[in-house]
Amino acid sequence: MSLVKKLFAKTPMARSTRAYEFGLARLPQLPTGGVLEIGTGQGYGAAFLSRAFPERQVIAIDITYGCFKPDRLEFGAHRPWFVQASAPYLPFADGVFALATAIMTFHCLPEPQRVFGEVFRVLKKGGVFLMADVDGNHRIAPWFERVEHWGGISPITRAYPPAEIEKLGAEAGFPPPRTFRRKPRGFMIWYIFQKQKSPL
Ligand SMILES: C[S@@+](CC[C@H](N)C(=O)[O-])C[C@H]1O[C@@H](n2cnc3c(N)ncnc32)[C@H](O)[C@@H]1O
Repeated sequence: MSLVKKLFAKTPMARSTRAYEFGLARLPQLPTGGVLEIGTGQGYGAAFLSRAFPERQVIAIDITYGCFKPDRLEFGAHRPWFVQASAPYLPFADGVFALATAIMTFHCLPEPQRVFGEVFRVLKKGGVFLMADVDGNHRIAPWFERVEHWGGISPITRAYPPAEIEKLGAEAGFPPPRTFRRKPRGFMIWYIFQKQKSPL
């Protein structure tokens, strides 16, 4: 793990679940089913999701568990399952999840079109994909990318402009997402994609 990544993992920001809270407060009604977290990192988000959805099973994936801190996590009624897997190749059956999340993760995923396709595949009808990430059109986006590249955090990091995210979603089969920001010029953007309940 790079030094920058190790140092960042110790900051309160790395343990914060505020981005999850903000997104969950804006979700539509979900079908029954599990919750998939993509890119769990230290695991604080998965633990938060297990407390927020005590009746659902949370499955959290990550490509690596170098940052994972299971001893520090406070779980809900069901302990999340942690699975080592890569987002473009999800090891799950079709139509099993009610919610998939990618919080501050999409920017470092390979094969973004495949990721959207896989998320669409594993969601139930009416299921939701909640994403939060740096807005590629924001003035801090190039600096964010440089820190990730030069700090050895992720050589492929890319902050996507919203139009590109919406295009990726449409190509996978999602209708246009609802988007949210904390502040009108905030650098973070939340997307809520919902797989349609019935064909058009
Ligand atoms: C910036 S962290 C976000 C952690 C967490 N979601 C949060 O907000 O605290 C991004 C995570 O994505 C993971 N990741 C990178 N490539 C991945 C891939 N191909 N599949 C799954 N996870 C991946 C990284 O290992 C890292 O833990």
